[in-house]
Amino acid sequence: MTAIDDSTVRDPDGLRADMVRALRDQDGIKSEPVAAAFAAVPRHQFAPEAPLELAYDLHRTVPVKKDEHGLDISVMSAAHLQAVMLEQAGIEPGMKVLEIGSGGVNAAYLQELVGPDGDVTTVDIDRDIIDRARLCLDNAGYTQVKTVVADGECGVPDGAPYDRIMVTAAAWDIPPSWISGLAEKGRLVVPLTVCGTTRSIAFDRDRDGLLSRSYSLAHFVPMQGEGAAEERKAMLRDGVALRTDDVRVPLNAQALDHALDTPRLERWSGAAYDLPDELELYLTLNLPSVARLHADKEVIERGLIEASARLGVPALVSEDSIAYRTRRENGDTGGFESGVVAHGPQAESLADEYVKLLRRWAHDHRRRGAATFRYLPGPAPSPLPRDAVRRRHGIVTATWR
Ligand SMILES: C[S@@+](CC[C@H](N)C(=O)[O-])C[C@H]1O[C@@H](n2cnc3c(N)ncnc32)[C@H](O)[C@@H]1O
Repeated sequence: MTAIDDSTVRDPDGLRADMVRALRDQDGIKSEPVAAAFAAVPRHQFAPEAPLELAYDLHRTVPVKKDEHGLDISVMSAAHLQAVMLEQAGIEPGMKVLEIGSGGVNAAYLQELVGPDGDVTTVDIDRDIIDRARLCLDNAGYTQVKTVVADGECGVPDGAPYDRIMVTAAAWDIPPSWISGLAEKGRLVVPLTVCGTTRSIAFDRDRDGLLSRSYSLAHFVPMQGEGAAEERKAMLRDGVALRTDDVRVPLNAQALDHALDTPRLERWSGAAYDLPDELELYLTLNLPSVARLHADKEVIERGLIEASARLGVPALVSEDSIAYRTRRENGDTGGFESGVVAHGPQAESLADEYVKLLRRWAHDHRRRGAATFRYLPGPAPSPLPRDAVRRRHGIVTATWR
């Protein structure tokens, strides 16, 4: 690791104080213990290759390792997301904590929060990452943190049970070891991905499995190893792809590509388009046959697909037709109205079904934090309940208040 000379830029102490202030202003930090942890840990020492400004940026990650395609497989997570998840975890002095997915800095925050009588173990599947984390932790004085190289899918049974397990890679499922590794009143904070969209969910143990107490939008590098996502991808044409992790969804690339050449049908909901991340979550978990539609800039600029698909949008798909969300300006309110674009022989019925859902969300559930998640381990019931998503080790359900 080569440290860069930042002596002409800002001093780290000043940047850190600014970061803590901004994290409080932006509702990342809500409690004094988390503020004290962020003020204490010399964050830049965990990203010695990065410019100081990047290390102390609230919303940007610091790249650590990429795969052969140039995609990030390890990053130092953004400070805001770390603060949100640490608040979700509700860590107290003396607790025993397991972090799955290492880097060093979050483990240092955890050590600050549990204090000298607590215990922090951090595990990563990648030896390079653990060696790097170990070096940074030791240099910054966090010698007490334990580092382990292993696939986090199996937890770290040696130290179990843990009061808190915090996962810092996007998980597609919750393996049995994470539940059995929790103390009776333990809490799991995990970025859980459903059909390409991820929420950091704080789960408490209950009689049947896990019950959520809060959730927040999150972006993470994907979990590797045994727990990696099961996902299908269909390229409809250059720059247009559909992805789904639901085995029941038909992904007929040829027929759906053909559908895109049929006239587009637009339907408008009359409902406001706002709280986009909450709406996206609702659509992803309530559309009966959902895939995520991605279109690149060029396809969008040609007008074939709406801009909503630039970062991925929940699409309702059948064998030969597709419908997805869009929006338009609402001259009366100054905001936006949500709507649907559909193509293919079943465009009308898919668009109607989609619009119904947009209206239901706007009418009944349009607020922050309206969903409650459950994770029920064990074999999936047959037939699968409509509000359930099947995983390898159990099912995820989401209900809206
Ligand atoms: C976003 S980084 C972790 C950031 C870190 N917690 C920090 O302090 O900023 C995600 C890490 O998860 C690790 N990872 C991915 N799959 C894993 C698995 N199955 N078990 C353990 N670690 C895994 C990656 O190697 C990567 O280092």
